[in-house]
Amino acid sequence: MPEKPQFRAIKGTRDILPPDTALWNWFEHTAREIFESYNFREIRLPIFEQTDLFARSVGSDTDIVSKEMFTFRLPDGSERLATEGASSSQTGEQVSLRPEATASTMRAYIEHNLQALPGNVKLYCIGPMFRRERPQKGRYRQFYQLNAEILGQSDAPAIDAEVLEMLVVFFKHVGLTRTTLYLNSIGDKNCRPQYVELLRQELLKVKDQLGPDSQRRIETNPLRVLDSKLSQEQEIIAKLPRISDHLCAGCREHFARLKDELKLRGIVYEENWRLVRGLDYYTRTTFEVIAEGLGSQNAVCGGGRYDGLVELLGGPPTKGIGFAIGSDRAILSIQESGNLPVLPGLDVFVAWMGEPTYAAALAIARKLRESGVSVELPGEEMKFKKSLNLADKLGARYALIIGSDEVASCTFTLKRLADADQRKLSEYELLEYLESEKRGTRG
Ligand code: HAM
Repeated sequence: MPEKPQFRAIKGTRDILPPDTALWNWFEHTAREIFESYNFREIRLPIFEQTDLFARSVGSDTDIVSKEMFTFRLPDGSERLATEGASSSQTGEQVSLRPEATASTMRAYIEHNLQALPGNVKLYCIGPMFRRERPQKGRYRQFYQLNAEILGQSDAPAIDAEVLEMLVVFFKHVGLTRTTLYLNSIGDKNCRPQYVELLRQELLKVKDQLGPDSQRRIETNPLRVLDSKLSQEQEIIAKLPRISDHLCAGCREHFARLKDELKLRGIVYEENWRLVRGLDYYTRTTFEVIAEGLGSQNAVCGGGRYDGLVELLGGPPTKGIGFAIGSDRAILSIQESGNLPVLPGLDVFVAWMGEPTYAAALAIARKLRESGVSVELPGEEMKFKKSLNLADKLGARYALIIGSDEVASCTFTLKRLADADQRKLSEYELLEYLESEKRGTRG
């Protein structure tokens, strides 16, 4: 039995190890390619920001801000650093690890005057987010998002549709096919307040039949009651007034035009009047994608429109829409579906035998690596059988055998491990063979 490790990853955080990291890199690389094909450009943002930025944008009554942020004070100038023995600051600036990336993107947009750029500003960001949620399958305290935002002067429904199209195209590319896109409009400041008040009145009538969370939300945020998964509440919720019957003319038209745009682009969705989202900044369009094989944490993407958020943070009047894909869950769903891409692994294991062959082994390993072939070269001599055994265990596709015969004849023996096919090649032929195979022109 291995000894119990002295240190373990903190609860809710985890290590992502090879070979999964190859899958993650492929997933993120595909996102970059697709997002950039829609003219999005990358923004890299800090991991922590002023707590107030999140409170103002996500909303101080939301679960995220009221109970899930990792918040601490930065030492102010008068204090010594923690490593010098000072305890945590009582007076420094209060900051939080980012629970999401939209607020930071808005802060950066305002700070760097990005509204001066021509056309719409399309930004994506890839990285970890932090929320102190109860960890379970698909729910972590450090998790990863692919976040995309479009900011500008227009709120044309075509922009909403383009964001959704990009999302659907990306999911198709990464083989995440067993998904459902839910769509809703939650109105704007002209119509939502009246609807929320109506909802509150209706909820008060049935308060006794609701669970404690929903009872509390009648006061704090009645919309969130629609999100409830409690089975006893489902029948009651089904009878509540629906936002779609209470949208103002502007919101109704925007939603209708968005649906036309989606039809034009062949995007399949389901309308879901209960989709309200857990962040305060949304207006009009909201959406979520759920995927199979994930249990209760099945939302792989959430997003929507947030016109006015930039203004709320002190910037100029700006329209905006975006989404965040939860990479952990999306990748989990791809893994569970078994629909995995074939990713490059180790190409060649160099089995050199006898000190005199070592220099030739070193030289060919460097040349192969320069031409993009992945090579493992043992630093110590190994017995031939042991060498091939290790090559097999490492998943190498080829063993490159270099013995005294090969050195004498200036050749290499290349053995394909899957079927033991073996051929003697000159250096030129070897490089040609492996390069053309890499390009996929040889089976
Ligand atoms: P969100 O719905 O809070 O939206 O998060 C988006 C996605 O992040 C979720 O659908 C889920 O896949 C993933 N996620 C959230 N929390 C966790 C967790 N604890 N563990 C694993 N995955 C998680 C936002 O964050 C908005 N900022 C999206 C947005 C961008 N709206 C407009 N622009």
